[in-house]
Amino acid sequence: MDIAVIGSNMVDLISYITRMPQEGETIEAPDFSMGCGGKGANQAVAAARLGSQVLMVSRVGDDMFAANTVRNFEANGIDTTHVLSTPGTSGVAPIFVDPDSHNSIIIVKGANNALSPADVDAVADEVAQCRLIVLQLEIPLETVYAAIDLGRRVGVPVLLNPAPASTELDFAQVTKCDYFVPNETELATLTGLPTGSIEEVRAAAQVLVDRGCPNLIVTLGKRGVFWLGTEGELLLDEYPATPVDTTGAGDAFIGCFSHHLVQGDPVPEALRAANAYAANSVTKRGTQKSYADAEEFAHWLAQGESER
Ligand code: RIB
Repeated sequence: MDIAVIGSNMVDLISYITRMPQEGETIEAPDFSMGCGGKGANQAVAAARLGSQVLMVSRVGDDMFAANTVRNFEANGIDTTHVLSTPGTSGVAPIFVDPDSHNSIIIVKGANNALSPADVDAVADEVAQCRLIVLQLEIPLETVYAAIDLGRRVGVPVLLNPAPASTELDFAQVTKCDYFVPNETELATLTGLPTGSIEEVRAAAQVLVDRGCPNLIVTLGKRGVFWLGTEGELLLDEYPATPVDTTGAGDAFIGCFSHHLVQGDPVPEALRAANAYAANSVTKRGTQKSYADAEEFAHWLAQGESER
């Protein structure tokens, strides 16, 4: 296996709205789409579609969504041996996408809350064979910490995407990660420092690099992506694309970046690919539905911007 994703899965219930309702108001939305989501699952699927071998460690409920989620992992070639079942609801995410392609997301973690440090211990031997562990924050923090510790114990690099932002995330745990990939808001939440300008982002990232995290990668939305590492730094502009739905673009970025890392690509090269892959994802509706496979992505890259 190339990548172990220890994280969440959700069912995305996406309403395409013209505006958010006021309190007590009922409004009609012109369109709806249901699909597989969850930050962990999204990152796993993006990496798998690009050709990585992915092991998923996650929990589904015992409801009508569970079997579909497992089937979806399997359809994407992901190892589901450690996708476990737990009583109650699966994770669900009502999502609202406005005409400007911006999204608002509510997550109901459901079974994801039951993914435990013991579940991480149970998969230690398989994880030790992987080349990268990928984590997010839609499972309990103690489970995230157990996975970071496992990575260090068995010598497998750890990538942590601290999304959604948590004020409880332990700074000391973050500095144990080989790759820390927040957006600018998540970086501000963790460090307590401003991240409004690129200079401020750089200064906040430097704090974490100085404390031991060798690679800080900050996704900056329309301003692109910034990497500060012990081996160098890079600021990439946003890759040009016309967005229709930005939901899951950050997960597309991390899935693609992880795929390139485990192929042995240097960080700048992996970042360039991930920046473009995330841009490709926003040109289509949905979360996982918008993730290209390797062939589709190569074709899109080969087209000139004017042809798209
Ligand atoms: O990052 C996008 C994801 O956030 C969605 O798929 C939703 O399920 C939430 O986890």
